[in-house]
Amino acid sequence: MANPPRPLVAGNWKMNGLSASVSELAKIASGAADIAPNVELMICPPTTLLHRFAEAARDTRIAVGAQDCHAQPSGAFTGDISAEMLADSGACAVIVGHSERRTLHGESDEDVKAKAMAAARAGLTAILCIGESREEREAGATLARIERQLEASLPDRFDARSLVVAYEPVWAIGTGLTPTPGDVAEVHTFIRRLLTGRAAGAGEGVRILYGGSVKPTNAPELMAVANVNGALVGGASLKAADFLPIAAACGLAR
Ligand code: PGA
Repeated sequence: MANPPRPLVAGNWKMNGLSASVSELAKIASGAADIAPNVELMICPPTTLLHRFAEAARDTRIAVGAQDCHAQPSGAFTGDISAEMLADSGACAVIVGHSERRTLHGESDEDVKAKAMAAARAGLTAILCIGESREEREAGATLARIERQLEASLPDRFDARSLVVAYEPVWAIGTGLTPTPGDVAEVHTFIRRLLTGRAAGAGEGVRILYGGSVKPTNAPELMAVANVNGALVGGASLKAADFLPIAAACGLAR
């Protein structure tokens, strides 16, 4: 059995943050000294802050990621930003297929796959989000949904460096609701099986994050679940006082 993948706790700031937020990043960076050294830490600010955050996080253990990218490297796509541009601004990763992009911008699995492949082309890690709706969970269709979504949005080739998968039940995002540890274990173990089925060696090393209402209070329980290799944190990543205890819980659970 290979060593478990190095855990990752990533903060998705969504459309939050102005220049003054650099001070919160500095608090996260200084508090990170107390987090177990094997835990990788990342903040994904809005694109307007990407370069500034990347500069401020230089020489700290905080990596900086982006929240979305266009599939093409350049061209006539007004308002869009390519993976190459994100890399040029200092990002080392990009979230693709977040449920808010899928729902509010109509992104399909095919779009998400193209974005994940664009991320790899630019040398970024794609944090690929998947998750079932409340109706699908209640209908007992969660695993079928996860399988369809993952199979259709996974890049053709991937490894532990180019891909992270985030399981984010849509009904758990921003609601304060979370699945039981047993339900999380079932889905994460299923995702691991799908990944190793697609790429035996590489699939073992891909981090599978849990996301959706992760808080300091529930992180110890969620981070201890089998095949949970960290967290994608929304609201609770905006404050060092919430984000750091989640990262600490992830370190303690290893
Ligand atoms: P939340 O968001 O932690 O605020 O529920 C998670 C996410 O959308 O990635």
